[in-house]
Amino acid sequence: MQAKAVALKTRPDGMPKPDDFQIIDIEAPEPKDGQIQVKNLSMSVDPYMRGRMVDRKSYVPPFQIGEVLTGGCIGQVVKSASPDFKEGDYVSSAWGWREAFTESAEGIQSLGTIVAPASEYLGAIGMPGMTAYVGLLEVGALKDGETVFVSGAAGAVGSIVGQIAKLKGCTVIGSAGSDDKVELLTKELGFDHAFNYNDGSILGHLKELAPGGLDVYFDNVGAEHLQAAIMCMRPFGRIALCGAIATYNDTSPRPGPNNLSMAIGLGLTLRGFIVNHFDHLAGKFRSDMEEWVTSGQIITKETVYTGIDQAPEAFIGLFKGSNTGKMIVNF
Ligand SMILES: NC(=O)c1ccc[n+]([C@@H]2O[C@H](COP(=O)([O-])OP(=O)(O)OC[C@H]3O[C@@H](n4cnc5c(N)ncnc54)[C@H](OP(=O)(O)O)[C@@H]3O)[C@@H](O)[C@H]2O)c1
Repeated sequence: MQAKAVALKTRPDGMPKPDDFQIIDIEAPEPKDGQIQVKNLSMSVDPYMRGRMVDRKSYVPPFQIGEVLTGGCIGQVVKSASPDFKEGDYVSSAWGWREAFTESAEGIQSLGTIVAPASEYLGAIGMPGMTAYVGLLEVGALKDGETVFVSGAAGAVGSIVGQIAKLKGCTVIGSAGSDDKVELLTKELGFDHAFNYNDGSILGHLKELAPGGLDVYFDNVGAEHLQAAIMCMRPFGRIALCGAIATYNDTSPRPGPNNLSMAIGLGLTLRGFIVNHFDHLAGKFRSDMEEWVTSGQIITKETVYTGIDQAPEAFIGLFKGSNTGKMIVNF
């Protein structure tokens, strides 16, 4: 089977550009013993992929120039030469950024029976939803009734963080980059308060909206957001360091928060995490989240681009706030 795919042409310098990517033709051949041939339905673009475009050691190895990028995707088996898969099975794999592939069945996960549209398994019921779930409940050690602030609140992870916190009876504040997103958070997703971080000072908004202080800050953004949240933490508060998207396109390191010493007197916990650290909770996460999504207790949002040639624009859009909810590319 012929397919199109996206390769990295050059390593982005600062904000990625469409020219950093190249659409190429690839072949997804007949599967050999132990392999499956898969047609992808949806692929994910994620902020962490920006880090993999830099040639440096990290928790995942860097992408190589000229090679097809990889990342989360959902597809359907076209032909199987593996006893574990049959034609039509929905599968989740890391062979994204391509319309189709033929690979060893090892490491490819059957989704089994799905109870929501397949693309939800890249969003709320997939990696971003699991990040929200473990980051808030395990890393943030959320307790019922606490006050929670989440940045990047209208995105894939943040929109789920806020809604889980509401299910736990918490007071939830979110920040996002536009008035439309702020309205979505308070009018549709049930956040108690939200503010546009491009309009006024972050610290000013937090002081006004959380006069009693914050118990948990779920940090998707870093930089000024982190510094302002530290100023507003209550004693023994917890900060889940999930991401720092404000810094991902920096070309030189920026100074850290200048108020970290406040964590000493307040007894704060600042804890970084990667979702994979909590793989042992994947089963519980899936059943809880499928229940919350299918019962309407958690509302999911997607921004969809269509066609493999749109994948670079969708990825770049993550750094411009072009998405509400999960950014997806459908084929
Ligand atoms: N630790 C983990 O295992 C893990 C797993 C998944 C994701 N993450 C991290 O979680 C964060 C959210 O990821 P996601 O997949 O849910 O992405 P997302 O929030 O769906 O998309 C990115 C959003 O970030 C916001 N943004 C972009 N540049 C910004 C800036 N300079 N300052 C403030 N906000 C900015 C934009 O929204 P606005 O319009 O609101 O600016 C954009 O829509 C990222 O930092 C990501 O790296 C971590």
